Amino acid sequence: MDASSLFTEETSADIVAASLGEDTDPRLKRVLGSLVRHLHAFVKDVELTNEEWEAAIGFLTETGQACDDVRQEFILLSDVLGVSMLVETINNRALDLTTESTVLGPFHMVESPPRQLGDLIALDGKGEPCLITGRVRNEKGTALPGARVDVWQASSEGYYDVQQPDVQPHRNLRGLFTTDDDGGFWFRSVVPRYYPVPTDGPVGRLLEATHRHPNRPAHIHLLVTAEGHRPLVTHLFVKDSPFIDSDVVFGVKESLVRDFVSVDDPERARRLGLGNPFRSAHFDVVLHSESGQETPR
Ligand code: BEZ
Ligand code: FE
Repeated sequence: MDASSLFTEETSADIVAASLGEDTDPRLKRVLGSLVRHLHAFVKDVELTNEEWEAAIGFLTETGQACDDVRQEFILLSDVLGVSMLVETINNRALDLTTESTVLGPFHMVESPPRQLGDLIALDGKGEPCLITGRVRNEKGTALPGARVDVWQASSEGYYDVQQPDVQPHRNLRGLFTTDDDGGFWFRSVVPRYYPVPTDGPVGRLLEATHRHPNRPAHIHLLVTAEGHRPLVTHLFVKDSPFIDSDVVFGVKESLVRDFVSVDDPERARRLGLGNPFRSAHFDVVLHSESGQETPR
């Protein structure tokens, strides 16, 4: 027997990493090997007790059990630990002339209804009226007519339509818009409110145990697509929202925050079909062209 091949506290990570077969897919070997090394280093660092190991297994088991067709507690766990945003940020690192991305979130679960530019997406009209305008182009400055801008948001009380099927109109605060000849889009809505992520599962208990609030600052989701361009998943954040500096899922990027300015102009409000005063925000979107011709930097 070769004693150096036996599992000890010192050799543990090397021994497990070496057990991965020669013919293992190279990427799997790299990822799993690294995971094992970090996991073993972590266990040694905190000197994990048996009770803590059992609690961790119990927590992960409950996290899996909390998942169903409409709820993904593992993604929520990844979100509140900052892993989702880290993966997102790493994978969009090279695209620094384009609009920054952020997490998709769980509420894009139904198809947004196609709408005309300028439509009101707040079907019950409840809340502070607002006007959202923007333009879609690529990093070369080319306007993108015919781009699809899919938007969804929480209500002025902080709920998505799917969370209140008996309260909000069907497909409230959702819309699929197509940009005009200049790549422009605009729609009318209400200012969304901040809201808590689901807290009635194991992730909620984790937040409570670590004295963290469960809230996301007010935002409007956008999924922007155009032929020949990389799809973009992002948010438009409301600058004066509570929790703008402490998003529970770490999704805020400075470039995505906009002032929703107050406009007191009865004549303009009347022409727009909005109540007066109203709020207004502008959000230009820059997509990454996949034509293969990189823009000189
Ligand atoms: C959301 O913005 O819809 C969201 C994102 C991550 C977790 C929960 C909700
Ligand atoms: Fe959201």
